[in-house]
Amino acid sequence: MTYGFDTLAIHAGQDPDPRTGAVVPPIYQTSTYAQDAVGEPRLGYEYSRTDNPTRSALQECLAALEGGRRGLAFASGMAAEDALLRTVCRPGDHVVIPNDAYGGTFRLFAKIAQNWGLHFDIADLSDVDDARAKTREGTRIIWVETPTNPLLNIADIAGLAQLAHDRGALLVVDNTFASPYLQQPLALGADVVVHSTTKYLGGHSDVVGGGLIMNDEQLYADVKFHQNGMGAVGGPFDAWLTLRGARTLGVRMDRHCDNAEKVAAFLLRHPKVRRVLYPGLPEHPGHDVAAKQMRRFGGVVSFQTGDPALAVQVCNRAKLFILGESLGGVESLIEHPGTMTHASVSGSPLEVPADLVRLSVGIETVDDLLADLEHALA
Ligand SMILES: Cc1ncc(COP(=O)(O)O)c(C=O)c1O
Repeated sequence: MTYGFDTLAIHAGQDPDPRTGAVVPPIYQTSTYAQDAVGEPRLGYEYSRTDNPTRSALQECLAALEGGRRGLAFASGMAAEDALLRTVCRPGDHVVIPNDAYGGTFRLFAKIAQNWGLHFDIADLSDVDDARAKTREGTRIIWVETPTNPLLNIADIAGLAQLAHDRGALLVVDNTFASPYLQQPLALGADVVVHSTTKYLGGHSDVVGGGLIMNDEQLYADVKFHQNGMGAVGGPFDAWLTLRGARTLGVRMDRHCDNAEKVAAFLLRHPKVRRVLYPGLPEHPGHDVAAKQMRRFGGVVSFQTGDPALAVQVCNRAKLFILGESLGGVESLIEHPGTMTHASVSGSPLEVPADLVRLSVGIETVDDLLADLEHALA
């Protein structure tokens, strides 16, 4: 029997506790486990860096939500990315990354992995031909975000999967912005899905975490070996909080999308807004591909004012939209990517426009959000 998304969110990895019947998976706040005899750990649990039952529950749920066989949970999205890179790539290998990757992802490639001998090229991944032109002998990964952070560009996952596989590379999709409720990259041919679970999966801005989901058993075993060897795991309480958030992902995402659609429509009509970036708008260049591969278009809306000073002023004047980094929580956030989340790409080919404002549209009463934006833009 296969269950629907929301049933999996509530039940996958979350059977009632066999000993007490507790409906919610307990927080196994323990570093180690009593063994029945030498070499006989109970249910395989030896030490919590290697495995912890609360983390196992989260990992099973993440895998189910992405329609994948295996999930691994990490201390942050960046820890997940690092573990994957160091598992798959060796010095001298090559990867293709998007021209508007999340700033921290670009920093990992440009300032850390490059020192270690990993080469990369930057492509416009909304254009499969540009991606093809940037691959070469030794390309191990095509790394995709869709929608991208913060410009909300759309990449054709199925087309890029085909390209990656023709080149003997893996297609890795950072699915943080869409969440598995809106988009399931493995079903479209991707090899690995990356999440900053800090965002929509956790959903309440109260925990940092990351996840990797994949189908290939050997790749899973290799990444798990690195996870244990390098140790970037989150604690049991973090896993428990993320799992609690994940249970309501579907209902939250629908409300995020409802509100974001209304915010995008409002901004489109506003005289001080020059350009609205939201894949749900028919005029968005990636709209058709997004409509093909996403259930809806997400909760992040970016816009350009044409004037960097006005963009900063809007961020400072908003009240209900809290000025802050991150996204995907129930509360609305506003930020100026050029000086905040994407300051690390300043001066690089990934530099974002100075007049750009990014909104993480929360699930508050939408009229209150529109009134706040009206005030901020006044
Ligand atoms: C698209 C995307 N990927 C990865 C990350 C990194 O995740 P974390 O902050 O959980 O390390 C972020 C963080 O903002 C992100 O937006």
